[in-house]
Amino acid sequence: MTLPEKLGQLTMTSGSYALTGPLRFADPSDAIRAGTLGNLLNVVGPAEVHALQRIAVEESRLGVPLLIGFDVLHGHRTLFPVPLAETALFDPETWELTAHEAAAEACADGISMVFAPMLDVARDPRWGRGIEGPGEDPWLAQRFSEAKVRGFQGGNLAAATSVAAVAKHYCAYGPVMAGREYASVDISERTVREVHLPPFATAVTAGVAAIMPAFHDLAGVPMTAHTALLRNWLRGHLRFEGVVVSDYNAIGGLIHQGVAADLTEAAALALNAGVDIDMMADAYSKGLPGALERGLVQQVQIDRAVHRVLTLKERLGLFDDPYRRGATQEVAALLAQRRTLARAVGARAIVMMKNERAALPMADSVRRVAVVGPLADAPEQMGGPWPAAGNADAYVSVLAGLMSALPQAEVRHAAGVALAGDAPVDAQEALNLCAHSDVIILCLGEAALMSGEAASRTNLGLPGRQREFAEAVLDRAAARGKRVVAALFSGRPLVVPWLVERADAVLACWFLGSEAGNAVADVLTGRVSPSGRTPVTWAQVEGQIPIFFGQRPSGRPANPADSFTSKYLDAPNEPLFAFGHGLTYGAFVFSNLRVNPRCARRQETIEVHVDVVNEGARAAEETVFLFVHDRIASVARPLLELRGFAKILLQPGEQGTVSLQLPVAELCFLNGDLTSVFEPGEVEVLVGPSANRAQLLHTSIQLL
Ligand code: NOJ
Repeated sequence: MTLPEKLGQLTMTSGSYALTGPLRFADPSDAIRAGTLGNLLNVVGPAEVHALQRIAVEESRLGVPLLIGFDVLHGHRTLFPVPLAETALFDPETWELTAHEAAAEACADGISMVFAPMLDVARDPRWGRGIEGPGEDPWLAQRFSEAKVRGFQGGNLAAATSVAAVAKHYCAYGPVMAGREYASVDISERTVREVHLPPFATAVTAGVAAIMPAFHDLAGVPMTAHTALLRNWLRGHLRFEGVVVSDYNAIGGLIHQGVAADLTEAAALALNAGVDIDMMADAYSKGLPGALERGLVQQVQIDRAVHRVLTLKERLGLFDDPYRRGATQEVAALLAQRRTLARAVGARAIVMMKNERAALPMADSVRRVAVVGPLADAPEQMGGPWPAAGNADAYVSVLAGLMSALPQAEVRHAAGVALAGDAPVDAQEALNLCAHSDVIILCLGEAALMSGEAASRTNLGLPGRQREFAEAVLDRAAARGKRVVAALFSGRPLVVPWLVERADAVLACWFLGSEAGNAVADVLTGRVSPSGRTPVTWAQVEGQIPIFFGQRPSGRPANPADSFTSKYLDAPNEPLFAFGHGLTYGAFVFSNLRVNPRCARRQETIEVHVDVVNEGARAAEETVFLFVHDRIASVARPLLELRGFAKILLQPGEQGTVSLQLPVAELCFLNGDLTSVFEPGEVEVLVGPSANRAQLLHTSIQLL
């Protein structure tokens, strides 16, 4: 291979359209033919992909096939709920299944690499990208990580339905300063290692094919040039042998970040740190020849990176059959099955935050339903900010879902207010509908593009004049004794205590994908009993942010009777909703928490059992969380650490026992020197329906 050909294998550019940055090449054909471009992103469809692949394989000198990447975060053509919403299922089997189906659809479009899963632990909802990942907890993120890698990659990367997964964004991107996208991160090494690295370590153990460094700098060192975390930790410590692919123009960004004077220096920094593929900066092809001449990099480093890229192409079976992906048309039956799956997963992703006055499920006697608010009939918003190749025309709105679920009823709609902006509220028609209906479904929230990349917000209430409209509806409903169900669509936990206070029921609907409206209707009508649990804490006011359950104890614990304790003067410490909160149509009572053995050594596993009874009148699925708290350790441990979850479906009056495993080795932690240690002593074990301590049963174990 010539140097330009090698650098071609280390370059990825956008084939047709750009999602997240400026488009550089309109037509990549000539570069592919010349062998100076070996990888593409954002080319979708068998015809488009195969036409370019043919140029690479048949017209370039070496015939090396192209790697085709795309952002497939929660489905490809069929959209499942956004990752944050899918996390609310607390169901690794489903996480794996949807990734597998997404991979199959992406493959049918010729794609061989997906820029997913996103594994950033996100504790600041101002940052919009929390929607792309598994929420606030590292242990949960680890379970999500392994399930998604398995789902995308399958057992054999060369299969026609497998893609190379790219775990992103490595690492600690979530704590960007003040929640502002692309900003700097400055957190302790302990937090990096305890919270942000574990999901990536799990992805590596699960065999993830590739990793993408994040855009930000960590205490001054951009992740794209972070030798300690990329070369030493990832490749050295974790023995990761896959490909590291930069984020979009991130190597070019090193110049703006103030660590490189030009593309040559930027390219050298990235290659030296261990980045193999340059996405969209053109830095390797333009900068590395000069970097070689100046002695900033060695030829052998380029060769090693090329070797890793070619090895991945080989593992993907691209050399055997570059046209395997996209060779077979997807049959209609399969697509219909995926829609059914999307609907079922969508319904299970909904978190019922509140349900009073028996507002839900809607009574069978309901004849007139008012579906109002800017998200009631907004199918185009339902796919969320990363819709991959989803077809917005085919997304189901809440209005459409309810109309088909209730053919006998009169389901009427008026938006009443714009989704965003200052246009005056035009509530009259909506208010009239509300006055003449049995129940009001108030569909509020964010536009899809208010979360995701480049979508930080400082006010986390309802955008535009939605609150004004909602209060008018709530006033009218209160005057006439009508029930109001708020369906909230958002990419983050919104700060809406007033709405939670006033509505009879509140559903967190996130963005549920292709079948959103049907999924919402299933829960509203009781066809599906809600079972989702929030994977993020909901704040009462923005000033509480960051708020998450894994905080450390204060030396002056909050005490209302004592001013000099850890609290606010103007807001409570407690969240609006704790991590794990979510109601069902059942009513569960926990009892009889027991552990066996009570004393255990490091290599043992403790069995934790708890009895659960459904005292409600409807069948429902309860989620059981297992937390630990190491109260006295050489380093202060978080007040709660998640170590398990399980689900149990119980009929009315039925009792069951949930059993969870607690491997004692999972109680090791980093001591003062950041060395992993096992410290004998007492550890509290807490089990219950959420991270709200008041709801948890507890006992203790003795570590020997
Ligand atoms: C930028 C985003 O940060 C990343 O998540 C995505 O995979 C790439 N653009 C490619 O679209």
